[in-house]
Amino acid sequence: MRRVLLIGVGAGDPELVTQQAVRALNTVDVFFLIDKGEVKDDLIAVRRRICEQFIDSPGYRFVEIPEPPRDRDAAAYEGAVQDWLDRRAALFERAIAAELGPDGVGAFLVWGDPTLYDGTIRIIDKLQARGVVEFEHEVIPGISSVQVLVARHRLPLNRIGESIHITTGRRLAAGLPEEFDNIVVMLDGGFAALEFTGADRTQIYWGAYLGTSDEVLMSGRPSPPARLNCEPSTAGSWTPTCSAAPPPSTQKG
Ligand SMILES: C[S@@+](CC[C@H](N)C(=O)[O-])C[C@H]1O[C@@H](n2cnc3c(N)ncnc32)[C@H](O)[C@@H]1O
Repeated sequence: MRRVLLIGVGAGDPELVTQQAVRALNTVDVFFLIDKGEVKDDLIAVRRRICEQFIDSPGYRFVEIPEPPRDRDAAAYEGAVQDWLDRRAALFERAIAAELGPDGVGAFLVWGDPTLYDGTIRIIDKLQARGVVEFEHEVIPGISSVQVLVARHRLPLNRIGESIHITTGRRLAAGLPEEFDNIVVMLDGGFAALEFTGADRTQIYWGAYLGTSDEVLMSGRPSPPARLNCEPSTAGSWTPTCSAAPPPSTQKG
């Protein structure tokens, strides 16, 4: 039976690739890379470097799957995302069928952890439900950007009994939740989290390019450094921003 592995490879630093991921990498025949165009070529390069660094025998190959265009201006955001996921799923299905032999092992290398703001698991579930190509699949967890962010700031993500609300810059732009203990903001290319630096009770802990030599860490009431003023469309994954906004210490724990 074909197997497809969704391998979390950590959020930037090769040292964040776990031993479980390394073991999985070494079983793979075909790595599927999503080709997001020139802007994200560096994302593909990072994945290739991870393979070079951690795989002992070079019997594997790469297959690039083109990224279908996405309508980011659509009024119905959910509908547009759904349509894009469907087109993406069709391309994944074709690639798995064409490139993996009956007992072949394929893999998608997922940035950070595959369970956090990543569509790969949903696409694979969709393919399993369609049943056109038969395969087993496994998810290998990775160290997420959230864990790296709080570790680099030497913070706990929450204190005793507190909740953690994980959201996106797009949703945060509509306003802070009425009640919160800790908020983590992902996909914040528009720097929405920094709009709230003046809000009562909030303390921002912010990071970009975490785990890379370009890492930027800021806390307090920061404003984005000029070199991070990138187009929101390119800010999604490699030119990332990620923030946690717990209130100042309330001595709970
Ligand atoms: C599509 S989500 C993928 C998240 C990923 N699955 C994870 O576990 O971190 C991309 C967002 O994750 C955050 N992110 C990922 N890698 C990052 C890094 N090295 N530094 C800062 N933020 C990062 C940013 O908020 C970025 O917009």
